[in-house]
Amino acid sequence: MLGIIGGSGLDQLPGLELQDEIHCDTPFGPTSAPIQRGQCKGQPLLFLPRHGVDHRIPPHKINYRANIWALQQQGVSQLIAIAAVGGISRAMAPGTLVIPDQLIDYTHGREHSFHDGDFLPLAHIEFAQPYCSELRQHLLQAAAVSNQPVIDGGCYAAVQGPRLETAAEIARLARDGADLVGMTGMPEASLAREAGICYACCALVANWAAGLSEHPISMAEIEAELASGMHRVLQLIAALDGGQG
Ligand code: HPA
Repeated sequence: MLGIIGGSGLDQLPGLELQDEIHCDTPFGPTSAPIQRGQCKGQPLLFLPRHGVDHRIPPHKINYRANIWALQQQGVSQLIAIAAVGGISRAMAPGTLVIPDQLIDYTHGREHSFHDGDFLPLAHIEFAQPYCSELRQHLLQAAAVSNQPVIDGGCYAAVQGPRLETAAEIARLARDGADLVGMTGMPEASLAREAGICYACCALVANWAAGLSEHPISMAEIEAELASGMHRVLQLIAALDGGQG
């Protein structure tokens, strides 16, 4: 079963023919919102808005463990994370779609593992390639079929938020090799790996990261870019071939 986690700019999935909503209580508490079960272009899928239906949950307060646990319990085996990000490398201009292939985790203080020695015994998952290559290929194919230009690969820096970064922080991320910066990519990706879910990210660049353009980042600019860009994400989703298990 295919799952989609929507981020900023995609708290709802237009085009989803809703069948029902699943209210999930997990060993970790409730999910960000009820999971929506439905079909998109005939393809069954589950949708969860990670910031809640009314976009009220900040990145550091998202119950990532509940979200991933509940999606796995509902049978999700392939999970696409939609993410709004800031662009760091020159190629990652606002409006660009990117399917990243690496990440660096700068978050802290988030419940980030099922294997905490309490709920599940200690285990060290393999995570050298944080995104599922098979699902990345599905996304790249869907982009080609739907004529959506995307960048294949890039390194996502997951930061704590909710504030935006300083120019010096972005310069450091660039030196570290990061191409994109966002606030929700971790621990979502590693929890999905722990849960045995194939996980990939479709990132939409909403703004130049801090210090990279002449003017300060404005939320109005970000919202405008997301409003115009998310319909391309939706076209890409609609073009997924449906053979996602
Ligand atoms: N920084 C962090 N997260 C973001 C940004 C940014 O510039 N834009 C969208 N999400």
